[in-house]
Amino acid sequence: MTDHLTEVAHPLVQHKLTLMRDKATPTAVFRQLLREITQLLLYEITRELPMTTKPIDTPMEVMDAPTLAGKKLALVSILRAGNGMLDGALELIPSARVGFVGLYRDEETLQPVQYYYKVPEAMEDRLVIAVDPMLATGNSSAAAIDLLKQSGARDIRFLCLLAAPEGIARMKEAHPDVPIVTAAVDRGLNDHGYIMPGLGDAGDRMFGTK
Ligand code: URA
Repeated sequence: MTDHLTEVAHPLVQHKLTLMRDKATPTAVFRQLLREITQLLLYEITRELPMTTKPIDTPMEVMDAPTLAGKKLALVSILRAGNGMLDGALELIPSARVGFVGLYRDEETLQPVQYYYKVPEAMEDRLVIAVDPMLATGNSSAAAIDLLKQSGARDIRFLCLLAAPEGIARMKEAHPDVPIVTAAVDRGLNDHGYIMPGLGDAGDRMFGTK
């Protein structure tokens, strides 16, 4: 991927996103839609994965058949809302390795602080796809990518559902080498750091919390 930002304008993605934005959409439907959109976005983000061939026996003859090359890719969920995307991603790429990054915001310094971090080995040899539905200020996303780079990751992509211009700018400044794929770029952030018009708190909506 060469573009820093890809907005996936596919009609199915946009239709499902509208359903997700609607506050009347129930939790179970919201979660299912997030799974489906994640798969459509993943299709886009994995379009240029390196391929090789391997010999297989079809019932008719031997052929050199296309197959993915290299080490299994790593999906990294940025907790907690990332887990809603992880479910859909693993349905599509069941053999992916999985990592988790947990960060919270220190109320005094306003800086992201790590509370959980676990990623697969050999990150330097894998395509790493970090998932988090909402790219808002970009501070925690940029911090999560910092940690992945400290673990050796060199080929990282960021997959989100909605992005604010502020978050895109922050990521571009901190990690210009990390392409972002999203379903939509919204107007901007409100005073509380929520994306407008957005869909509210993605974690609360997918887990039914408040
Ligand atoms: N996180 C969310 O869940 N929603 C927003 O609008 C911004 C950050």
